[in-house]
Amino acid sequence: MSDDKELIQHQIEYYRARAAEYDQWVNREFRYDRGEEQKKRWMAARKDMEKALADVHPSGDILELACGTGFWTVHLIPFATRLTAVDVSPEMIEINRQKFKDTQIEYIEADLFSWRPSSKFDFIFFSFWLSHVPASHFDSFWEMVRGALKPGGRAFFIDSLMTQESTAINHAQLEKDGKAKRKLNDGSEYEIVKHFYDPAKLEQRLQGRGWTGHVKTTGEFFLYGCLSDSKK
Ligand SMILES: C[S@@+](CC[C@H](N)C(=O)[O-])C[C@H]1O[C@@H](n2cnc3c(N)ncnc32)[C@H](O)[C@@H]1O
Repeated sequence: MSDDKELIQHQIEYYRARAAEYDQWVNREFRYDRGEEQKKRWMAARKDMEKALADVHPSGDILELACGTGFWTVHLIPFATRLTAVDVSPEMIEINRQKFKDTQIEYIEADLFSWRPSSKFDFIFFSFWLSHVPASHFDSFWEMVRGALKPGGRAFFIDSLMTQESTAINHAQLEKDGKAKRKLNDGSEYEIVKHFYDPAKLEQRLQGRGWTGHVKTTGEFFLYGCLSDSKK
């Protein structure tokens, strides 16, 4: 557990320092450039997830956890009557805020491992966050999500499949040990949490904890799921 505390702290420092270069990963630029063919497949898979999100018709009070620079905030805005976005990094939040300065979004700067929402939501979204939740915090994280949902509410998540070519060219091979070594453009190194889930096993695990729904994949790069609390 003390190890996890340290990893969580490194992870926060890593994302704070990475904020200005975060979009390079999404856009497949610089160290993440693996050629035009891969970029096409990556972008097509992201489009598939945008469609999957739209297909479940998010609505009402929406909460985005670990919002980052806003790659998914933009897809939540049209559906929300109220949008709340949480992230631990003020740098990430500032980039997000600048992108959507004409939109009413409530930003909360908080560590998701201690933050507890003060209201309830119809739809809770988190992308590329679950993989960064240490195994020791998996259950408490999902309990926090459960507690923050209104009756009939849903949680939607997107995350990474273990595809070696999704990471930067100068990163080590991805491993299944729940950790990853990351570098920033200036060469600084960080160790963070990174779990790669098998979609069927994750679905089973969540169903075993009282969630209804499915975990699917886009094939090569991503997994996603839409779940509701079967107890509510
Ligand atoms: C991989 S990024 C995902 C960003 C965004 N959801 C996206 O899909 O582009 C992970 C995000 O988690 C945030 N984060 C890291 N540790 C956190 C923590 N303990 N509490 C809240 N947010 C955290 C980072 O600042 C970063 O914005």
